[in-house]
Amino acid sequence: MAEQDTHKDDAADAPAGMRKGVTHYGDAGFSLFLRKAFIKGAGYTDAALDRPVIGIADTGSGYNPCHGNMPQLIEAVQRGVMLAGGLPVKFPTISIGESFAQPTSMYLRNLMSMDTEEMLRAQPMDAVVLIGGCDKTVPAQLMGAASAGLPAIQLITGSMLTGSHRGETVGACTDCRRYWGKFRAEEIDETEIADVNNQLVASVGTCSVMGTASTMACVAEALGMTVPGGASPPAVTADRMRVAEHTGSVAVQMAKSRLTIDKVLTAKAFENAMRVLLAIGGSTNGIVHLTAIAGRMGFEVDLKSLDRMGRETPVLVDLKPSGQHYMEHFHAAGGMTALLRELKPLLHLDALTVTGRTLGEEIDAARPSFKQDVIRTRAHPIYPQGGIAVLQGNLAPGGAIIKQSAADAKLMEHEGRAVVFEGLEDLANRIDSDDLDVTADDVLVLKNIGPKGAPGMPEAGYIPIPRKLARQGVKDIVRISDGRMSGTAFGTIVLHVTPESAVGGPLAYVRNGDRIRLSVEKRELALLVSVDELVRRKSAQPVVAPTAQRGYRKLFLETVTQADQGVDFDFLRAAKMVAKVPSVP
Ligand code: FES
Ligand code: MG
Repeated sequence: MAEQDTHKDDAADAPAGMRKGVTHYGDAGFSLFLRKAFIKGAGYTDAALDRPVIGIADTGSGYNPCHGNMPQLIEAVQRGVMLAGGLPVKFPTISIGESFAQPTSMYLRNLMSMDTEEMLRAQPMDAVVLIGGCDKTVPAQLMGAASAGLPAIQLITGSMLTGSHRGETVGACTDCRRYWGKFRAEEIDETEIADVNNQLVASVGTCSVMGTASTMACVAEALGMTVPGGASPPAVTADRMRVAEHTGSVAVQMAKSRLTIDKVLTAKAFENAMRVLLAIGGSTNGIVHLTAIAGRMGFEVDLKSLDRMGRETPVLVDLKPSGQHYMEHFHAAGGMTALLRELKPLLHLDALTVTGRTLGEEIDAARPSFKQDVIRTRAHPIYPQGGIAVLQGNLAPGGAIIKQSAADAKLMEHEGRAVVFEGLEDLANRIDSDDLDVTADDVLVLKNIGPKGAPGMPEAGYIPIPRKLARQGVKDIVRISDGRMSGTAFGTIVLHVTPESAVGGPLAYVRNGDRIRLSVEKRELALLVSVDELVRRKSAQPVVAPTAQRGYRKLFLETVTQADQGVDFDFLRAAKMVAKVPSVP
């Protein structure tokens, strides 16, 4: 088991379990002797040790209710591992719960990926079950496992149940935003907002809409990294527990056949995942995470090709925030298998999955689809094009994105006057002021919330509607930033402007009153200011990138990449990029 670095060339080897010794404590025999003594101290017999060892990454935490079913999941995985003849060994890693992580969960994603990678390298195991669910955890685990290289399978914790408020189905967190918007606009009172608060998160599990967690669950299945049907069962269901047991069994098969992660995470797998991301109307964060995971395997995401792929990929899944329903409905409608079957002509069916069979074989083997109204056919999509469009122009030379499926159609072609906020504090101080000079035709610009700016690229790109406009009934306005937004949010919101303002991207030099043009049709984001004027502004007030004296923040600020490289640390990406994905002409 010490030879994890050679896994990729060592496909014929049988699982080594605890048997192979490292030589850190003198000779190999003594190392093994010592290791056995310690594991026996935990009560194991020799018989238990003569099996493939399946590590189980336990990311339970009191700060992470999205992983609140972790004990039951681990029990089910262990059962699956033992039924298939393996030895399960759980171990903890960092857990990141979206709502409780400061300054933002994204700041910690790479740290979790490093923890995951190094624990997979450090500890003896023949395969690993990664258990994650909340937004950053699945990306972090896939990034770490991609770099570690051993056989790995993803288990998703599963979505929360929906709640009910005065007869209406509600769930985190599209409805959180909608009801908070109503409260801000003084349409509902304190009693009602308190009642809604009790219903938004009806059980443990991940957010119930097609936010980042659900998106990454679907993406993980499309990558071939989960068992078939692994994306959609809600957290507290028997279906979810059976997926967990099955995952444990498959992990043992993967260990025996040495099905290492590089055989699953191929260029074709990433293209399938992008296709699915577009077809589910998935979270914009999914692009950043997929870029980061792909970067670990030496694949560079080509945003222009991704945009072309989007133009020929309709949104088929009718979930909030782009549509109507929730994850439990997606699951009841057949989940990913039903979607993948509908997308079949657009997928690489020969991509290998963790089961050792191809995606096409798994789709064919799955239960037949049936009539339902959550997963549409390509002939009757929710939205004719992919949910996400990639914008370019002098305001975003490295690209920017917009979730067009969740935006107001009237604002997709728009020119307006910039109303600029220099950062989060400036925004907090002025957005609700009655003196704010703003109309519904303006373009709100928020600077300094990119990867280095905030730092950690917080989800503050969902700039609230200024209170005075909200009171007038304004529901949407064009908003632009170098930050991200929650996958559960909606609106005409341009995100991930690259390069970010904190490193001197053009966004840094936008001033109040400048004209900005957005054309989703032309995929354009233009600052209507002359080159000479921008040069003048730059030399008058050059941007100094933020720094830190010590610790993780120093590492973060010195090595974090821009959105177009997945906001990964530069030294964690593959040493060499071998291909671009997707390869859409
Ligand atoms: Fe964890 Fe939404 S807060 S998935
Ligand atoms: Mg989220």
